[in-house]
Amino acid sequence: MGENLPFVIITHDLPSEWIASLENRCQKVTGRAGEPGFSPELLERLPEAEGLFTLLTDRVDESILTRAPKLRVVSNMAVGVDNIDLQTCTRHGIPVGNTPGVLTEGTADLTMAILLAAARRLPEASADAREGRWTTWSPTGWLGADLNGATLGIIGMGKIGRAVATRALGFGMRLIYTDVSPRPEVDAETGARFVTLANLLSQSDFVSVHVPLTPETRSLIDEAALKQMKKSAILVNAARGPIVDSQALYHALVEGQIAAAALDVTDPEPLPPTHPLYSLSNCLIVPHIGSATRGTRRRMAELACHNLLAGLDGLPLPHCVNLVVYTQKP
Ligand code: DGY
Repeated sequence: MGENLPFVIITHDLPSEWIASLENRCQKVTGRAGEPGFSPELLERLPEAEGLFTLLTDRVDESILTRAPKLRVVSNMAVGVDNIDLQTCTRHGIPVGNTPGVLTEGTADLTMAILLAAARRLPEASADAREGRWTTWSPTGWLGADLNGATLGIIGMGKIGRAVATRALGFGMRLIYTDVSPRPEVDAETGARFVTLANLLSQSDFVSVHVPLTPETRSLIDEAALKQMKKSAILVNAARGPIVDSQALYHALVEGQIAAAALDVTDPEPLPPTHPLYSLSNCLIVPHIGSATRGTRRRMAELACHNLLAGLDGLPLPHCVNLVVYTQKP
């Protein structure tokens, strides 16, 4: 009976309880955990694949699709789908699923965590304590930035941006926001005021990036943008690395154009250990852990399974990012 079940490739090993819903619904081959992309063994199985379960580290483009003529669905275990060539999937008639909603709160929590850590210089203070530089309570030691009364500029008032804004209100922050598409003058849920990107950059004490990576947002925060920010400002990026120009950021941090940065995402990713950004005490870097809680990651995997199974059954995906695939003419 198992032989009649559709064949799927899961690019990376995942806890079996996260993907329990696939049991008896498909035959599957799984890649090794900890290695990005399709391994040579998985590439060899593409001709059989009817479904792909991918991570944000796996590029899905023409070179993959032409090797997978039986493919009926791509299910990405992420809300971001910049690793997937959507136009090509649509042209091949393949729906692409993502996992919105389930990682909103976890990612917003992490955004606030790194924002606070950078504001209060936690990595430096912690290293100084461990390494013997805590010699006395110093009235001028490890001074950081206040959140209460500070202006937070949110770039991208989607689900995650709004969840960050809601948290920031609890810290007494004043909110402004901008987005790549027109938005209300005042965000109804948070009271954040819409401003242009230029105004947001020049007025904010903290700038937090929450737009998806698209051709339009690539290098949105470049040298010119960084120059518009306050010298005391802190930049937070928990969206996608290439939205911020790494080299321009390095120079802005070294030259004191901005005070600090907190990055959950980098360009490139992973950021090699020799990268100059690591040498800066005013740059906090964590390895893309915005959604890394046990509950969130499990919910992401479960939602990705639902998308995958719907696609294999020929049903609309619960969360499809290229809906046009269902209405386009063959
Ligand atoms: C996503 O789902 O796109 C996130 O970046 C994962 O943390």
